[in-house]
Amino acid sequence: MPKVARPPSLLLQLTLTSFIFLSFVNNGNAGITSTFIRSEWPSVDIPLDNEVFVVPKGHNAPQQVHITQGDYDGKAVIISWVTADEPGPSKVQYGTSEKRYEFSAEGRMTNYTFYKYKSGYIHHCLIDGLQYDTKYYYKIGNDDSSREFWFQTPPKIHPDASYKFGIIGDLGQTYNSLSTLDHYMQSEGQTVLFVGDLSYADRYEYTDVGLRWDTWGRFVERSTAYQPWIWSAGNHEIEYMPYMPMVSESVDISSPLNSRQLDMTRSQVMAVHGWMPSSRRSCGGYQTGAGPVEGVNNSKHVVLGDIYRKKVSKKIKKKIKELESGRGICVTVKYTPQWMWLREEFERVDREKTPWLIVVMHAPIYNSNEAHYMEGESMRAVFESWFIRYKVDLVFAGHVHAYERSYRISNIHYNVTSGEQYPVPDKSAPVYITVGDGGNQEGLAGKFRDPQPDYSAFREASYGHSTLEIKNRTHAFYHWNRNDDGKKVATDSFKLHNQYWASNMRRRKLKKHYLRSVLGQIAAY
Ligand SMILES: *[C@@H]1O[C@H](CO)[C@@H](O)[C@H](O)[C@H]1NC(C)=O
Ligand SMILES: *[C@@H]1O[C@H](CO)[C@@H](O)[C@H](O)[C@H]1NC(C)=O
Ligand SMILES: *[C@@H]1O[C@H](CO)[C@@H](O)[C@H](O)[C@H]1NC(C)=O
Repeated sequence: MPKVARPPSLLLQLTLTSFIFLSFVNNGNAGITSTFIRSEWPSVDIPLDNEVFVVPKGHNAPQQVHITQGDYDGKAVIISWVTADEPGPSKVQYGTSEKRYEFSAEGRMTNYTFYKYKSGYIHHCLIDGLQYDTKYYYKIGNDDSSREFWFQTPPKIHPDASYKFGIIGDLGQTYNSLSTLDHYMQSEGQTVLFVGDLSYADRYEYTDVGLRWDTWGRFVERSTAYQPWIWSAGNHEIEYMPYMPMVSESVDISSPLNSRQLDMTRSQVMAVHGWMPSSRRSCGGYQTGAGPVEGVNNSKHVVLGDIYRKKVSKKIKKKIKELESGRGICVTVKYTPQWMWLREEFERVDREKTPWLIVVMHAPIYNSNEAHYMEGESMRAVFESWFIRYKVDLVFAGHVHAYERSYRISNIHYNVTSGEQYPVPDKSAPVYITVGDGGNQEGLAGKFRDPQPDYSAFREASYGHSTLEIKNRTHAFYHWNRNDDGKKVATDSFKLHNQYWASNMRRRKLKKHYLRSVLGQIAAY
């Protein structure tokens, strides 16, 4: 059956893009497979004694400081940190001028044991009632070893508020991870949407698991202490360790330690290690353990999914079955707590107030890499039609350690006569972007499927990060930045029109302008 012709604007964009990036191979009608040759550092974790993991000076000094958005409206922040020597205060002092802290808030403290590893004291403190668009300074820890940081609150909720997100995935703690983090910090993003797989501590055994969560916390602090990172969980948050009998024998979901044995509780694993403050869990369906969380950032509605099924042993499967029947928890896609949560969540979005709708999940739905090929298929079958119905603008995923961007395509139409089903160009579909190229110790997924499928617009196996710069209710600029030997290079970029606002009458007016600005855009970057 003939494929539906690509819309002319995409063709034009493609022509222009291939004109600029001469080194890319253009696969006939399909997208671009970049042939960029990179020199990567070996994919090994940075040694423990490296300065990037340095413990801050002073007795019980706060470390692993990280913040995340604390409410729906962007007027609250959750500040988290770890003290190593003794519990110490869970108090945050804060204010709008440096060194003068008019306010204070009291948090809470938790700790955990994993095998023989005993965690530090993990503090979470919610500070709320903040002013929009304001720089806040904050201080944590005891007087002699206290530390000070700052953050900026988002602008007032307004459909035309502008904001710049960074998108990072599968980060880990290698020299490539460091390069990604450095480049992200140069790109002036205001909040990170993290697509899952944080520390890769699960690649270690016994007490080293906890130690590598701690090094990772100190490693990312350079950014996470100063701006919200909004987390989605990945499969490396599973920590499935059957060789540790004392952990795997008894599966009791109410114990944070043992709940790590089940792939449906990745967000709980993150919570145990201090990366999902529990007040956040009251948002959406996350408290079920099936793990979706959600966040709203001023005029942008971000939906985060925690959907990933890992192959588990028979024994664990049996346990899951028992748990499902006993506690109403399911681990398949449809009718899961996550499915129900997402259905309600999409209904709640008011695009007049929050024009941009972004979905963040771990395993990609459209992926033409050999790695994890078709793994997102069960989710695609269930969620893709919702993405289209609710006019999702972008779907970000990680999991595959490479970069890929799709055209606007959908695969929701089924031909009952021929039994055929395949992706076709669809203006009402989101753009799917895989940015699992943060730089962890597993290395790059260098093998793309050949030929490049029609849905794939651009793909390259390099480390990097993305930014999404929302300008107003109709326009956003998207960039993917390849780390490229230490220089920040915008490799893939395009201008995005809002799916909700562009599909009404305005679209026609914008159209002419769009073609002109694609030209300007490419030239500018
Ligand atoms: C938490 O810390 C306290 C005080 O050091 C300790 O007694 C307790 O065993 C720790 N709890 C866990 C679960 O490690
Ligand atoms: C479905 O497939 C049949 C057999 O290949 C074809 O004749 C028909 O045109 C297709 N229908 C649509 C709506 O594409
Ligand atoms: C939205 O932003 C785009 C890009 O900066 C600009 O061209 C356009 O005029 C803006 N629209 C409105 C209504 O301000």
